[in-house]
Amino acid sequence: MASQLVLITGASSGIGEAAAKRYGASGAHVLLLARNAGKLAAVAHSIRKAGGAATPYPVDLSDRSATEETSARITRDLGTPDILINNAGAGRWLPMVETTAEDALRMIEVPYLAAFNLTRAFLPAMLARGSGGITFVSSPASYLAWPRAAAYIAARRAVAGLAETLQSELRGTGLFVTLVVLGTVETPYWEHNPGSRENMPKTNKRLVPILTPDEAASAIFDGVAARRAFVVRPGIFRALFVLNALFPRLVARQLRRATGKPFSPSS
Ligand SMILES: NC(=O)c1ccc[n+]([C@@H]2O[C@H](COP(=O)([O-])OP(=O)(O)OC[C@H]3O[C@@H](n4cnc5c(N)ncnc54)[C@H](OP(=O)(O)O)[C@@H]3O)[C@@H](O)[C@H]2O)c1
Repeated sequence: MASQLVLITGASSGIGEAAAKRYGASGAHVLLLARNAGKLAAVAHSIRKAGGAATPYPVDLSDRSATEETSARITRDLGTPDILINNAGAGRWLPMVETTAEDALRMIEVPYLAAFNLTRAFLPAMLARGSGGITFVSSPASYLAWPRAAAYIAARRAVAGLAETLQSELRGTGLFVTLVVLGTVETPYWEHNPGSRENMPKTNKRLVPILTPDEAASAIFDGVAARRAFVVRPGIFRALFVLNALFPRLVARQLRRATGKPFSPSS
């Protein structure tokens, strides 16, 4: 990774922070994007303290012009990223009637439109160079559906659709696209998005282990290094996706049961 320019969105917390540190330790120059300037500075400081290189670029990725300005500034300052990791995201898992139109719009703005706009901003230069990797971090919601997460699930399907289409469209250009699907990762996500943990399908932790942020970061790092198209952790989700494609009603029934009684953060 030495001398590679790696851009990571959502680098102020959780999976993005762990991935930034992993890339920093590997010798990459890491570009850290998120809104919270103080947290980004702290992540950059810790990467530099460990001997790595990192530059924070605070930006609200739901703001299209701010995203374009930031990508232009990055290009002027340091050049075109070699690896672009679209990880920033949020989203509350709530019943449809408790999800406002504004909530639904926010969940489409980040992660989906943020990933589209940032990738769109760097793609012409990456294509001209004829090399580089584009990564999207998503969740099993890209392929499964359970009750009380409609807006979240719709947004994750958009991310998977973008990734899969680019995989096809960019074939033969020298660029590669990696879609990383992660099960539950123990990060501040669950505090940042109230109600989500309670509306999560209950699973057997031995069959479907919870990941640490470092395990999630390794899945991203190793998958990108191997230029994989599709990374799934824990691997059991691959079997579930196949089962869902073959027997959708059976899987839907199991997921309904596993989600249990309705939970509302206001109740
Ligand atoms: N945790 C899980 O179980 C899990 C599982 C599968 C997939 N994922 C996905 O992985 C990604 C990272 O999740 P996480 O668990 O690390 O959650 P997290 O700790 O809440 O981190 C989310 C990151 O996204 C950034 N972000 C949110 N809105 C933004 C905006 N408008 N502009 C710029 N940055 C923004 C946040 O930074 P600021 O607040 O500083 O802007 C933060 O750095 C998300 O897309 C999440 O959906 C998570």
